[in-house]
Amino acid sequence: MIRRAVAADADTLSRLAVTTFFETFVDGFGIPYPPADRDAYIAEKLAAAVFAGRIADPAFGVWVAEHDGEAVGFAVAGPNGLPHADARDGDLELKQLYLTRAVQGLGLGGRLFETTLAWMEAQAPGAIWIGVWSGNLKAQRLYQALGFEKAGGYQFRVGSWLDDELILRRTGR
Ligand SMILES: CC(C)(COP(=O)(O)OP(=O)(O)OC[C@H]1O[C@@H](n2cnc3c(N)ncnc32)[C@H](O)[C@@H]1OP(=O)(O)O)[C@@H](O)C(=O)NCCC(=O)NCCS
Repeated sequence: MIRRAVAADADTLSRLAVTTFFETFVDGFGIPYPPADRDAYIAEKLAAAVFAGRIADPAFGVWVAEHDGEAVGFAVAGPNGLPHADARDGDLELKQLYLTRAVQGLGLGGRLFETTLAWMEAQAPGAIWIGVWSGNLKAQRLYQALGFEKAGGYQFRVGSWLDDELILRRTGR
């Protein structure tokens, strides 16, 4: 089941964000983040207060994916923050889309993304942006299947570590 997040979900989403960060980037892709950079990123960007702020902010959409009654994933969309020359005020960005490893490949991520995309389409007619780690081919395949194309690149900061990211875009209607 996919549902909009409520204030009481902030702690759960923070825990899920930390779990999926480790599963995806540290254990999965083996990115050797220096521990201090990794910990600074987690404390600043994945804290419950960050989720609480976004859940309360009407400019953001936050969703929880549940499987067998348990929260196993989440998605966050909001104002675009990706650095691209064609980005315009009012454009939206998929900021996070994460499932725990145990429930990947069941179609839940595709449904979570479609739900988030439908909300973004209803909010604004402009381009929709996604930043994705350059080596994350599984996520890129999903985004490509839903009409996103490579528009550029940038470096995503994890503490003082810099990841090479692609910028994907689906142009507005
Ligand atoms: C990326 C992620 C969200 C995908 O979710 P998932 O549930 O594992 O994937 P699904 O089962 O929905 O999709 C499986 C396949 O169907 C495709 N698919 C899913 N929904 C689709 C749709 N609506 N239309 C067309 N194709 C679709 C996907 O492209 C994928 O194809 P593949 O087998 O060639 O890879 C999930 O694997 C995940 O959380 N990964 C770790 C975190 C991560 O990488 N997040 C993205 C950060 S930018």
